[in-house]
Amino acid sequence: MNRRNFILGSAAAIASGSGVLLHAGGIARKADSGRRPRLTMPALIDATAEGVFALTARAGRTEFISGSPSATYGFNQAYLGPVIKVRTGKTVVATVANELSKPVTVHWHGVLIPGDRDGGPHQPVKPGNIWKPALDIEQPAATVWYHAHTHDTTAPLVYSGLAGVLLIVDGKDKERGLPADYGVDDLVLLLQDRRFDAVGGMIYKPGMMDHMFGFHGNRMLVNGVLDPSVAVPRSVVRLRLINGSNARIYNLVFADRRAMRLIGTDSGLLPKPISLERLRLAPGERAEVLVDFSSGKPAMLSNEEYSFNGSGMMAMMGSPPSLAGASERNRDMAPVLAFEPDAALPAKVTAIPSVLDDSPVPRLGQPAGSRFLSMDMMVGGSGGTGSGMMGGMTGQMGINGQPFDMRRIDQRVALGSVEKWTVRSTMRPHPLHIHGVRFRVLSENGQAPRIENSGWKDTVLIENRVELLAQFTQPASANAPFMYHCHILEHEDAGMMGQFTVA
Ligand code: C2O
Ligand code: CU
Ligand code: CU
Repeated sequence: MNRRNFILGSAAAIASGSGVLLHAGGIARKADSGRRPRLTMPALIDATAEGVFALTARAGRTEFISGSPSATYGFNQAYLGPVIKVRTGKTVVATVANELSKPVTVHWHGVLIPGDRDGGPHQPVKPGNIWKPALDIEQPAATVWYHAHTHDTTAPLVYSGLAGVLLIVDGKDKERGLPADYGVDDLVLLLQDRRFDAVGGMIYKPGMMDHMFGFHGNRMLVNGVLDPSVAVPRSVVRLRLINGSNARIYNLVFADRRAMRLIGTDSGLLPKPISLERLRLAPGERAEVLVDFSSGKPAMLSNEEYSFNGSGMMAMMGSPPSLAGASERNRDMAPVLAFEPDAALPAKVTAIPSVLDDSPVPRLGQPAGSRFLSMDMMVGGSGGTGSGMMGGMTGQMGINGQPFDMRRIDQRVALGSVEKWTVRSTMRPHPLHIHGVRFRVLSENGQAPRIENSGWKDTVLIENRVELLAQFTQPASANAPFMYHCHILEHEDAGMMGQFTVA
């Protein structure tokens, strides 16, 4: 049985409810030399042929540290959910069942579909119920994801494990010369920091600091595995990085400074790879990079603490907690994932392709309108002005001075129109995510966009001020509006979210 069959076989076993845990990294690979556990790839559901997939939200127990079980949630398993492969140009019908004792929603973050299938706070699935949205996949290939998006409780549900990855594929990766062998040279890496207590249990008890900064962990999970390592072929390997953390902004860099070639951003591939040494990834954002392991040298993907000089009260409060595991020599650099090249694995792609997509980037044309959003940390409850003042420590959050209200439509956008949105942050950087669109970043803090923001995006970190251009192609009614919000999930739950119709 080759590895691919093993992966698909195990995915089927999980889908059939046997609860088998998949250890893709453990099969046909040499035993790990160090103490870091092997990374596992999430079970893969290939929905490209049948056009259906099923997710069941359920509770479970997970031993992130052996001997210390934590209560967790997952889709079809104890923690997190499967990777679902869907095909562009096809319709896929999802069956979402809820076996939890509370309502959940499943939002398809990055999928361009109408508001009534979007899975936001207006589409709760009650305990014992089933939701069956049909998703028409019309957009180009991209790495997108899905997660709980319930009113007021997104942060604890996602933290507990209600998240997974969707791969939109178009069948053209071989032609492009891109690695596409799932779990071998095409790796899904869902990054999450989590907080563990002294006896090894995962905890979520946000205090005042955590409400202000968002909840940061002290340890790294990749695909739910604590401090892992992964065997890779001695070739070019594709990393699909998804920031599934509640609040942490990563600044990823290889310890040996080897180049990453950025090939894709949130909503699709770039025209050609762009080389970078550091990759910034805020909550909700994704990036696809190619890394060359043909030298056979092991490598450590690390996180260099993101730092930002806040203003006012936030600056006085210091910075969010950093990750454990940083070396004495470099306290700001914590390990994320160890790569161990293995000559026994098939080396298929040996060169970085020079062109990925030579069709011209679609032009969005002149904006028909413009809007301004201010992501505000406000004086508690008083509907602040976003002037940078923060009174009491209640930490009310909002957009344009108003906390989220499910009964209020904040913006009305014309279907098919192109708009320029100018977004600013107060006191701290906030990653803005807009449902139902992909957009281009026009400027970032008054400059040309960073490399990470040079392609199609659905989430962008607003450090100061960002201008973006979007075309609104998906309809959304007042009963099922789209959201725009801070993807620091504690901020979202605290009210840094608004909603809009497209008609
Ligand atoms: Cu990834 Cu509105 O969320
Ligand atoms: Cu979304
Ligand atoms: Cu925020």
